Amino acid sequence: MSKKKVDLSIDFCGVTFKNPFLLSSSPVSNSAEMVERAFEMGWSGVAFKTLNSDRIPIIHPSPRMNSYHYGNKKLVGLQNVEQISDRPLKDNLLDFLYLKKKYPKHVLISSIMGFSNDEWEYLAKVSEDNGADMLELNFSCPHMSVEGTGHHVGKAFDLIEKFTATVKKAVSIPVIAKMTPNITDMTEPALYAKNGGADAISAINTVSGISEIGLNDMVPKPNVFGIGAISGTSGPAIKPIGLHFIADMAKCKELNLPLSGMGGIETWIDALEYILLGCATIQVTTGIIHYGYGIVEDMIEGLSDFMVAKGVDKVKDLVGMSLKHVATTDKFNLKRQGVTDYDTDRCVGCGQCYVVCTDAGGQALDWDAANRRPKLIEDKCLSCMICSFVCPVPELISYKEMPADWMRNETKIMDESLESELKYQPFKPTII
Ligand SMILES: Cc1cc2nc3c(=O)[nH]c(=O)nc-3n(C[C@H](O)[C@H](O)[C@H](O)COP(=O)(O)O)c2cc1C
Repeated sequence: MSKKKVDLSIDFCGVTFKNPFLLSSSPVSNSAEMVERAFEMGWSGVAFKTLNSDRIPIIHPSPRMNSYHYGNKKLVGLQNVEQISDRPLKDNLLDFLYLKKKYPKHVLISSIMGFSNDEWEYLAKVSEDNGADMLELNFSCPHMSVEGTGHHVGKAFDLIEKFTATVKKAVSIPVIAKMTPNITDMTEPALYAKNGGADAISAINTVSGISEIGLNDMVPKPNVFGIGAISGTSGPAIKPIGLHFIADMAKCKELNLPLSGMGGIETWIDALEYILLGCATIQVTTGIIHYGYGIVEDMIEGLSDFMVAKGVDKVKDLVGMSLKHVATTDKFNLKRQGVTDYDTDRCVGCGQCYVVCTDAGGQALDWDAANRRPKLIEDKCLSCMICSFVCPVPELISYKEMPADWMRNETKIMDESLESELKYQPFKPTII
């Protein structure tokens, strides 16, 4: 039986991508030779490594990255101090010409960072003149060694507007503003970018962080000859931060711009989550640093299978589908409550649920030591679900809603006789 065909192509600012999967600007998009390899494997476009005009020579610190391993999981995060491209501008532009000649239907996004207003203009123009289909303005690198650049621009909102307007005046191709997550509210700088004429927003660049300190020399890593720096964290560790900023911007009616999402995407599921929260395209770096360009094959297959299973023909119909379910916590219906539900026939008797419930949950489990099985006391269960997070058997512990009149038990008091010593008056708010 032939597999049903779904349409992964997507329009982003009037440019057609054959699928939503792009390389983000970084070492994975550093040269035509690399990008070519990625295109052959299935990536539909690239945000090329951020160009530099050669006015200020770029020298990368050495070493420039450190892996944030956690337990036995490698590269939960990646710490980097890499700068923008150190290649001569001419070489990068020759690569643009090569890629556009050989791959006219793949999308070439030129990522640029000027160190002055006229440099933004210059880099925008040469990019367009040499075949770039779109521009991405890097307002967001958190560890540039050239003062006042990168995310310092992304935090000075009027500069975002000014440089976006400069670039928009200089070119006719669509312009994406790439945002820093090192702020509290991304909608605000995104609106400044929109005022400057941005056609789309991409996010997130790396999150400022320190992910490891060498215990022998006490220097944060990467240790650049005795000095560590607060620098960019990427990879799975930052996905929740990326998704939050994307959801905020997608829900902002005033903004209403196409979004390109990134931050911790490794699998088709990660990519889909960004799409469901409003991204038309997604970009990847650390996932490729960990596994190589080949992950795009799983992304294409996984997303296609998901669409077939859900009866969705076009990927554009998935964009933003989860947004109607994203609200603030005051919208929760607190009348509906539930507890955990244990399928003890499948239990392996490890007891991890009992330990975490007793030390960090509702102390709602009794332990049948003879049979090595937990027994739930329903009216003590907080439905925190931590027992299910540590249970080694998939889906043994699930969630069950309780009837409308069901009540959780009152908290236990250790010694009621202490009430006579209590210094306490109920709080009375002062009415102004
Ligand atoms: C080593 C490294 C270098 C990067 N260089 C750039 C860059 O030159 N320009 C840019 O806009 N973003 C740069 N980024 C940020 C990525 O494009 C991306 O926004 C970020 O890493 C989050 O995605 P990820 O979790 O898939 O890596 C770099 C990231 C890494 C890890």
